[in-house]
Parts: sequence; C-alpha cells; structure tokens
Amino acid sequence: MKRIGILTGGGDAPGLNAVIRAVVKRAVGQLGWTVMGCEDSFNGLLDQLRVRELTLASASGLLQRGGTILGTTNRGDPFHFRRGGEKAARDRGGELARNTRELGLEGLIVVGGEGTQKMGYRLMQEHGVRVVGVPKTIDNDLDSTDLTFGFMSAVACATDALDRLHTTAEAHDRVMILEVMGRDAGWIALYAGLAGGADGIAIPEIPYDPDVFCDKIRERGREGKTFTLLAVAEGALPTDCAPLDSSGTVKAGGAGVQLANELAKRIDAEIRVTVLGHLQRGGSPIAFDRILATRFGVKAVDLIEAGRWGEMVCLQGTHVEGIPMTDAIGRPRLVHPDNELLAVARATGVTFGDRRGVPAR
Ligand code: F6P
Repeated sequence: MKRIGILTGGGDAPGLNAVIRAVVKRAVGQLGWTVMGCEDSFNGLLDQLRVRELTLASASGLLQRGGTILGTTNRGDPFHFRRGGEKAARDRGGELARNTRELGLEGLIVVGGEGTQKMGYRLMQEHGVRVVGVPKTIDNDLDSTDLTFGFMSAVACATDALDRLHTTAEAHDRVMILEVMGRDAGWIALYAGLAGGADGIAIPEIPYDPDVFCDKIRERGREGKTFTLLAVAEGALPTDCAPLDSSGTVKAGGAGVQLANELAKRIDAEIRVTVLGHLQRGGSPIAFDRILATRFGVKAVDLIEAGRWGEMVCLQGTHVEGIPMTDAIGRPRLVHPDNELLAVARATGVTFGDRRGVPAR
C-alpha cells in the first residue's frame, strides 16, 4: 500500500484536473493507495503544510473541469523561494524533502511544464525525493512528448476566435489580427491559423517582414477579398527587433499591436487587434485533452507501481510511454523551418511574413 503525493505547477492548462482524477481513480480506486494532494505546486509542502487526502469522492466530477483543484503558481520554486516582501531567495529544497518524508510520502507525481519538471528532478538528485513527471504546457513546446494536454483545447479556443473574427472582418472589410499564446514557440498560432483559415501567421521562429503581410493584403484586394485574417503568436517579432518585455507583473500582450502598427505605417486599411490571452487556458478541456490527460494520469501511477521513479510520461506517436527525466527536460520543441505544416500552409497561400516561397511538391 503506497502513499504518494501529487502537485500541479506552473501555468494551468485544460486537463490538469483530468490527470488528478485519473491518478486517484487508478491509485486509490484500483490499487488501494493513498494519494495526497499538495496545494499550489511545491509551496504546499513548505511552512504550514497544505496537503490533503484525495479520495474517490473528491476526485469525482473533475474530468471536464478547467483549472486545477490543487491550485498552481509560477512562483513555486523551492530552490529559489521568496515570500512576498523578502529580498533574497532561499534554497528550501532540504526542508521540502524532510516534510515529504515526514508526511510518509514515497514520492511525488509532479504535473507541470519544463520549469516544474526541472525542480522535481533536482529534488530527486539533491535530496532523494522520488518523482514521476507528467508534462504540461498549452504551448506544446516540449521535445520529449509529441503532444501535451491542453494544447488542442487552446487551439480550439483560438480557432473559434478566428471563426468569429472572420465574419466581422468580412462585414467591415477589415484586417483582423488575433494574438494568441506562444512566447517561444508558435504552435498555437500555426495550428489555429491553419484551422481558422488565417491568411497570414506570425510565429517566434520566423521573424517577419511587415511588407510581406502588406503584399498579402493587397494581393487579396486584387482578388476581390476586402478583408484579411492574421494569427500572431505573442512571441512573434519583425526582423531586427528585440523581444518585447514580458518580465513585468502585468502582461497584456503586444505582438498583435506591434504588427498592427507596422501595417498601419504602410497600408490604408482598418485594422483591429484581439488579444485572446488567458481565455485559451481557462475552461473545459476538449474531448481529446480529457483522454490524453487521463492516459497520462494512469501511466504516471503505472510507472510508480513498476518502480520507475525518475521517469516522465510522454506521448510518442500513438503510445503513452515513460522516459527518463534526464532525456525529457531541457529540450524545447520549436517550429522547425522545414515543418510539414508550414509547407502545407504555404501551399494553400498562407504567408508567414518571410520571403520563402511555396515549396515544390
Ligand atoms: O507557458 C505557457 C504560457 O501559456 C505562455 O504561452 C504565456 O506566455 C504564458 O504561459 C503566460 O502565463 P502567465 O500569464 O501565467 O505568466
């Protein structure tokens, strides 16, 4: 009879609760283990412990619920812990490990992105806390897994937004810019742009020339199309431009407005910008993400049952596998210039704001 903990760290993603539900159903319901939920990432294992038992009853009704019942934070690094008002960060890894042992936890399921996985791995290396990782990011930018849950829900949300912008753009003969998430990787913009029929897509991996988007708008005009839809990742930038500052506590986008301003200098058109923001992260996971999250949760428990601590769950092709955390972290997955989706988009007339032409087929 094992006793394990589970926590969720970093930005939330639709499907986190579905992972928790699957872990409890498998571990408690089928294997008879005890599962303790740690609140607000690793922070729940420090100070006044905020840890509670997750029963089958408490895990009921979670499949379609957005957010995470355990809470999460981007400020949950036990190795650089800083309470509000404190100037210097402290390393509290040892304390956290002690608390984990005193709670009788054999180990932790750490559900989170790159940063959270690295913290979990470090706890294991430096303090012997056993960890199994479940990857999470709506940006889908982890190299070790073909997909993360939440990504397709974000894409569905952004696609719906593009569909809505399409009708109003057409009605008013406007250029509509939709800014979506993706600070370093343009996957959401690429997928949603394709699904929503965007005429142009700007992603961080391809610095854009505003003139190319202007050419596209003019070309559409010549074809009798008096409106244009552009999908822009929040990390997209014109060539020779420094990244926008995203270090502050208030974040309100910027890439969409930046592109709009560049276009406005060059063409006479009505331009409107919509920043989709955290609507992409909130709300229910779509069916695909509920299933993927459930598979990840079950696999995490199965890895523990098999004694495979130190591994992270991932999707490889159509299979859910476990791979060593060392192989899983530290490798971001960006949109490669030769990605097939880019070629497909170009082949259907989509521009990425660069001068690269339509590929030969
Ligand atoms: O990393 C995932 C992500 O969704 C990014 O695309 C986005 O820049 C960031 O989170 C915003 O997160 P927060 O508002 O929580 O800082």
